[in-house]
Amino acid sequence: MNSLARHALHRPAPPVLLDLCPTPDDLRGDVIAGLSSDPKTLPSKYFYDARGSQLFEEITRQPEYDLTRTEIALLQASMRDIREAVGAEAHVVEYGSGSGRKTQLLLGGLDSAVAYTPVEISREMLLESTQRLAYAFPEVQMLPVCADFTRPVPIPPPLQPAARRLAFFPGSTLGNFDEAASVELLAAMRETIGDDGRALIGIDLLKDVAEMEAAYNDAAGVTAAFTLNLLARINREAGADFDRRRFAHRAVFSPERSRIETSIVSRCAQVVHVAGQAFHLDAGEPIHVEISHKYTDAHFDALAAAAGLRVAHRWNAPADRFGLRLLEPA
Ligand code: AVI
Repeated sequence: MNSLARHALHRPAPPVLLDLCPTPDDLRGDVIAGLSSDPKTLPSKYFYDARGSQLFEEITRQPEYDLTRTEIALLQASMRDIREAVGAEAHVVEYGSGSGRKTQLLLGGLDSAVAYTPVEISREMLLESTQRLAYAFPEVQMLPVCADFTRPVPIPPPLQPAARRLAFFPGSTLGNFDEAASVELLAAMRETIGDDGRALIGIDLLKDVAEMEAAYNDAAGVTAAFTLNLLARINREAGADFDRRRFAHRAVFSPERSRIETSIVSRCAQVVHVAGQAFHLDAGEPIHVEISHKYTDAHFDALAAAAGLRVAHRWNAPADRFGLRLLEPA
């Protein structure tokens, strides 16, 4: 048998998608609502069109933005402990599509994971990443779910019953949600994993202010391009006329709220139009677009407790630059 035929024999069956048909986001409605509010806002979830996702990948390679590299190294260093703490035959449920290194490390490092369910709103990204993982882990049943993960999600049962569910939410993506939304999300996760479940969460930790601010103001300007790409998307998809040369990226740390706050600042007094509706901006007026929380133990423990969870294990990167927390129902 030639190698092509052998490869075809070992090709895993295409993953069966549970499609909960999330309604497409009303980008235009959200943009108009955000620009009508005081202060003006635009939701950061719209950063991730094809160009935005590409720019985010580039951010993770910038010398100033070490979150991704640090988390991967931490996951590698802690995998033995995580494997022991989680136990054998887990069903991993990842919040987001998880095509990358972190998912591979987790699935490869756990003791006989039986199934993997990425929960992701973009059907395309979901199918692409699951297909790739199916080749790498033919023994793990792929059960992708297309859904909005900020709500409780029904998880398809694997053919081989799992000992427990493990929710996986890396990257400090939790930090992009405000306090109330974070608690809601953790509570939904608590419901999804059930009484025996666990959740492994990646969180960026509070550190030197200059370092935190540099991570969101890289010298090559990739983060600025990522932020301002939102305007190009809104022009395209909401019929707007933002001129990106008239706007600047700004990211500063708020010590009161322990978070980086990113805005798109109007460089001059101007009027922009969205679907025929006019919005006035003063010179220097910010449009708030993203928050990225930086956690202390007390802060994160309080969020978990408010969602009915408690921290069972903590692993920190050297110099406490990033943390992984294993949560269990309280
Ligand atoms: C995805 N998320 C955790 C990133 C962060 O650090 O808040 C998104 C990002 N925005 C600018 N740089 C990176």
